[in-house]
Amino acid sequence: ARVDKAGHKHFMAKEIAEQPGVIGDALRHYLNEDGATLNLPQAGLDFKAYDRLTMVACGTAYYACLTAKYWFEQLAGMPVEVDIASEFRYREPPVSDRTAALFVSQSGETADTLAALRYCEGKATKILSVVNVPESSIARESDVALPIFAGTEIGVASTKAFTCQLTVLLLLALKAASDRGEIEATKLKEVLSRLRAIPAVLNTALETNDDFRKAASRLANSDNALFLGRGLMYPLALEGALKLKEISYIHAEAYASGELKHGPIALIDKEMPVVVMAPQDALFGKTVSNMQEVMAREGKVILITDPPGAEAAGEDTWMTLVLPQVDPVLTPIVYAIPAQLLAYHTAVAKGTDVDQPRNLAKSVTVE
Ligand code: G6P
Repeated sequence: ARVDKAGHKHFMAKEIAEQPGVIGDALRHYLNEDGATLNLPQAGLDFKAYDRLTMVACGTAYYACLTAKYWFEQLAGMPVEVDIASEFRYREPPVSDRTAALFVSQSGETADTLAALRYCEGKATKILSVVNVPESSIARESDVALPIFAGTEIGVASTKAFTCQLTVLLLLALKAASDRGEIEATKLKEVLSRLRAIPAVLNTALETNDDFRKAASRLANSDNALFLGRGLMYPLALEGALKLKEISYIHAEAYASGELKHGPIALIDKEMPVVVMAPQDALFGKTVSNMQEVMAREGKVILITDPPGAEAAGEDTWMTLVLPQVDPVLTPIVYAIPAQLLAYHTAVAKGTDVDQPRNLAKSVTVE
């Protein structure tokens, strides 16, 4: 079926707005009707049978994997490595027969990711994939392929596929936790009930659209931007920087907040916007002190946080953008929205081609 913009100016705007709905679809598919237990295939997907998980992807899908590493380690106590497909495939990494290899790809056709999958065939105990296109090569060549239910994604810069990937990866991490006896049924039920509320939370997060439009009109005058995040927010900072450079052509880089003093702090001056993604969580105080180091050097902080974070951070930022507060484990799904909205509105303000950025392809099927 032909997909149109449904009244939106760009496919990207439409796809950002669709996220509550498509995440709801994925949740309906992967949760039982009680809403409190997982409906994931058991055949070929028993995480007790694996000693480690190797995740491989490109681009935004790679950042979904980096996020999932925190979830698998923290929730399931499972050792995880994450790699860029073009590096993994040529490095000749040892893959033990107690390893599950998991490939994440929106298109399911990315050449490097497919080659990495083929490299693992006959080595890994299981080949798993998380894909948006169930008929794709990567899905067909996997032992177990889990679709993400994002629907057709047209915008070259991935948005709804990213949050659907995150949702399915979190469900997988919860399954791993449960298979490995690392999570109690009551705790699982609690996390799942909060996850079921995520579409509604995202609708609230999307109401910040105008705040991001205003923030973007100021950011659009910059040539550079830094993104900082810690813990689960580090991969989101990477994704925020990728989105911004892809569609607005502003040079953007992301660092783990703790790395600030190992290099990027040298770049801070009054011309440098620094986007800090920091909901109030266990690491919040540390990120605030990084933020103060930036402000002490006249860097222009754009703080993206929740109401308690905004309260605690004070009023010295260049801008503070406030999102709904959620369970820390769910923050990546929510903070994808500001990463997308900031990039989108900056690109619109600059007049760049949002849906078809120069030099980029939606699906990279050649090396
Ligand atoms: C291209 C797209 C990105 C995407 C990446 C991986 O670079 O522009 O948006 O994240 O490929 O694509 P995949 O289909 O494997 O997720």
